[in-house]
Amino acid sequence: MLKPPYTHYDQLHVYNFDSTDLGEIDDPDLIGTWIEDDTAILFFHKEKKALIEQISNRSQAKIIYEATLNYQDWEAGLDITTFSVPPLVVAPLWEEDRLSDDDGGIPVLLDPSVIFGSGFHPSTRLCLETLTDLLGSASDTISTMVDLGTGTGLLSIGAAKLGVKKIRSYDNNPFACSVARKNVQLNSCEQQMTVMEADLRNGLPDTAVDLVVANLYKGLLLDFFANPNFWKARYYIISGFIPSMEEELLKALPMAQLKLVERRKSDTWRLWLLANTTQEPPR
Ligand SMILES: C[S@@+](CC[C@H](N)C(=O)[O-])C[C@H]1O[C@@H](n2cnc3c(N)ncnc32)[C@H](O)[C@@H]1O
Repeated sequence: MLKPPYTHYDQLHVYNFDSTDLGEIDDPDLIGTWIEDDTAILFFHKEKKALIEQISNRSQAKIIYEATLNYQDWEAGLDITTFSVPPLVVAPLWEEDRLSDDDGGIPVLLDPSVIFGSGFHPSTRLCLETLTDLLGSASDTISTMVDLGTGTGLLSIGAAKLGVKKIRSYDNNPFACSVARKNVQLNSCEQQMTVMEADLRNGLPDTAVDLVVANLYKGLLLDFFANPNFWKARYYIISGFIPSMEEELLKALPMAQLKLVERRKSDTWRLWLLANTTQEPPR
């Protein structure tokens, strides 16, 4: 996350340890620690050879790899800048001034950090566009939402800004949860949104809500689709898959109770908007 004196991301210095048990790391240049399975990936604004050696010595953890890269390269070569998905205007923290310049858009201020959900991945953008369209057409009826794999929290924050009253946002990456919570604060969405750390492979949260958003990956989506408890919501925005996965995923849907309202695509990514016909007449 961005902490003073830093106002943007430039170079990323990345150190991947073979252990998560590294002790307290209190360093002003630390962006955050990403825990993945049994490994920890540390992101710094500056090179940290001496500190990394200290951490290795005290914890007996070994470096699996290290790398230095530009923030733009981390973000797939893209420049993370202000963009609009009407009526939302989303600005990274370093372009906060562009929000006040905008005429009439609903502002979202985001620290994208190094977490999925800057708004520049095609699947995130598809989700945000579908969300704004759905809430624009049925905003009075959608007041509760679950966001499965929230990343930066962007989709949940967008929904909160568009009037969804109660949103539960889940991610298994503690660093993603910290970034999402910071973004909740930046946008004053604390009353509407709760960010929770949970591994969704170990259990499904209550999906008896108006809308479930799941921008995830095929394996987890297939697990959800096979679980009758997943199908308690009225609408579903599902993404995170490519055309070659679509047939297998489609076959796994309980179509007797669903209507495929819309299929959208961007680049090689796909999205479905589903309505649950047992909960709501199809739109
Ligand atoms: C494709 S990203 C989507 C992020 C954001 N919702 C967006 O649309 O930009 C998927 C997110 O799901 C999280 N995730 C992956 N596996 C998960 C699991 N088993 N339990 C909870 N979250 C998971 C990842 O950490 C990541 O933040």
